[in-house]
Order: sequence, then structure tokens, then C-alpha cells
Amino acid sequence: LRSTDSKTHWENVYKQKNATDVTWYAPHLATTFRPILDTKPSLDAEIIDIGVGTSTLVDDLWDRGFRRVTVLDVSSAALNMAKKRLGRRANAVQWLEADITTVQLPRATHDLWHDRAVFHFLTREIDRKKYVENLKDALKPAGRVVISTFALEGPTCCSGPNVMRHSAEMLRAELGKEFELLNSLTENHVTPWGSTQKFLYCHFKR
Ligand SMILES: C[S@@+](CC[C@H](N)C(=O)[O-])C[C@H]1O[C@@H](n2cnc3c(N)ncnc32)[C@H](O)[C@@H]1O
Repeated sequence: LRSTDSKTHWENVYKQKNATDVTWYAPHLATTFRPILDTKPSLDAEIIDIGVGTSTLVDDLWDRGFRRVTVLDVSSAALNMAKKRLGRRANAVQWLEADITTVQLPRATHDLWHDRAVFHFLTREIDRKKYVENLKDALKPAGRVVISTFALEGPTCCSGPNVMRHSAEMLRAELGKEFELLNSLTENHVTPWGSTQKFLYCHFKR
């Protein structure tokens, strides 16, 4: 999908669905939350969640005491749903309505970059390049990256658009030589309708 089509698509998804009625719904993003905590980030760590959707990672980070959290999504409908859920806590979160392939993020700002189920929508090489350029610019020199995509055995599309499936080695190659893969695993995500989708989880260090 091109940028403008992608925005229209995602706005429509969240206008039509409840947070719990999407295949990627999980009450907590436990498998990506664990490696975030493993890095033992200080409570003033700058954390950015790319394509937050309506996921509760931001709530869980708040509950652990993290107060410098930025969440980005191309869909204002998704951001509004998350804001509503967070209530007053939302005021302490930085909200960015933007496309990760075109946004300009502040340089060398983030200690941790989190993405669950967003990078795999970038089926055009040019969009993946822009994503990785943004990641490299926005991340601090010793920053960490936690990315989850569909695994090689995962679905070939999600909510309409085709996706690109990845192995840990493919993701490492996308990020480039300056990133070291610390850990990876695959896991069956169970959708709200009881089917399973194989996800890959990777944790990188710059
Ligand atoms: C499958 S959902 C995952 C949501 C959330 N990370 C989770 O795990 O529940 C993908 C999310 O990425 C957002 N998204 C898709 N393409 C994007 C892009 N190019 N830039 C920013 N957000 C994007 C969508 O609006 C959607 O909220």
C-alpha cells in the first residue's frame, strides 16, 4: 500500500472495529514487553512504540513507572481509542499521528524502539529503507530494538493488505551491520477467533 492508501485503510479498520475485534488483539503484549524489561531500562528511558494501534503496551509501561513514552500511528482513530482508554494518563504520553515511512523524528532521542506487527506491512523496499533510516536516526547510539513481524510460516496478509514474512536473519539484514541480534523466538499468536498466527520476535542492540 502507498502512504495515502495505507492511512485510509487503517483509519477505516479502527472506525469499524473494536480494539478486541482485530486478529492481532492481545490483552497485553507480553512477548515484546519481556525483552523491554530485560534491558533493565531506567525509568527515564525514552521509549517509542511504532504503530501502537490500540494495544496496551503503553498502559503497561506506565504501570511500571515509565514516563517518557512516545506512541506513533498512522491512524488517528486508533490513537483516539488508546487515549480514551488511558484517561488522564494520556496527558503524559507523546502522541504522534504519522506514517513511519515519511515522518521526521527527532535525532538520537530514543533508548528503545518497539514495533509489533507494523514493519511486515512494508512490502516495498523503498518503504523498508525509509523505516530503517528513521529507526537509525531516532535511536540513541546504544539503543535497543524490539521488533515483531509475522514469521516465515505466518499469514501472507492481515486485515486486507499483503505482508512480508520474516526470519530473524532477514530482519537482521534489513537493519544492517550495526545491529546485533540478542535474542529471537517464534510464537503462535491466538486470534480472538481461536486461529493461530506464527509471529517472530527479535531483540536487537546497536
Ligand atoms: C496489526 S496493527 C498492530 C498494532 C499494535 N502494534 C499491536 O500489536 O496490537 C498495525 C498498526 O500499525 C499501524 N500502521 C500501519 N502502517 C503504518 C505506517 N506506515 N506508519 C505508522 N503506523 C502504521 C496501523 O494503523 C495499526 O495500528
